[in-house]
Amino acid sequence: MPLTKREFNKSLLGLASLLATSGLMEEIMANPAFATETKTKEETMPFTLPSLPFAENALEPYMSAKTFSFHHGKHHKAYVDNLNKLIAGTDMEKASLEEIIKATTKDSTKQGIFNNSAQVWNHTFFWNSMKPNGGGKPSGNLAKKIDSDFGSLDKFKEDFKTAATTQFGSGWAWLVSDGGKLKIIKTANADLPLAHGQKALLTCDVWEHAYYLDYQNRRPDFVSTFLDKLVNWDFAAKNLG
Ligand SMILES: [Fe+2]
Repeated sequence: MPLTKREFNKSLLGLASLLATSGLMEEIMANPAFATETKTKEETMPFTLPSLPFAENALEPYMSAKTFSFHHGKHHKAYVDNLNKLIAGTDMEKASLEEIIKATTKDSTKQGIFNNSAQVWNHTFFWNSMKPNGGGKPSGNLAKKIDSDFGSLDKFKEDFKTAATTQFGSGWAWLVSDGGKLKIIKTANADLPLAHGQKALLTCDVWEHAYYLDYQNRRPDFVSTFLDKLVNWDFAAKNLG
């Protein structure tokens, strides 16, 4: 028999007082399924787009807010979204980005996951490789190692620029530590030092989308600006450890 409104309210009150006295209410509310906040779909995904370490316009006039709105807001975000879609429902949902990269790097059947996870990592690393009022000279142990492994800071810059401008098509130029020795390498597409047992210290994105809005086809100018005005030597020193 259907309950009257009054009977229904009375039953609810009775249930609430029973739950309150038994401590069950507390237990129920602690269950994430009963959380009052509704999480968006993006918040429940394993990976989220990291914020830039500076404001979108902080590197102007060398790298414009418009470039960041596309490069970070669209390209980097697309890699995050694609990765989340590709690993949905797999055991990789619980893995770290680095674990996913290492697990898929030599597996041709998982190239999509490798490409997107590596590009998520590479872009976050690239943003941190730059800072407002960057450039200048490294100091301390990093400066000593650059001098001993490349001859001088100028020679390092020359070699880095050569690597960045001769990477045919899309890719990355890197300063890495390889078994304790500093090296400059270039990688194609999404490839990265982690896949080769090397430790990344700095990177410059030389995909066309990194510089086309500000420099059009002048990749050499973009790379020189990166080295002279933007590079974050503190970040590289921290990575060297
Ligand atoms: Fe990029």
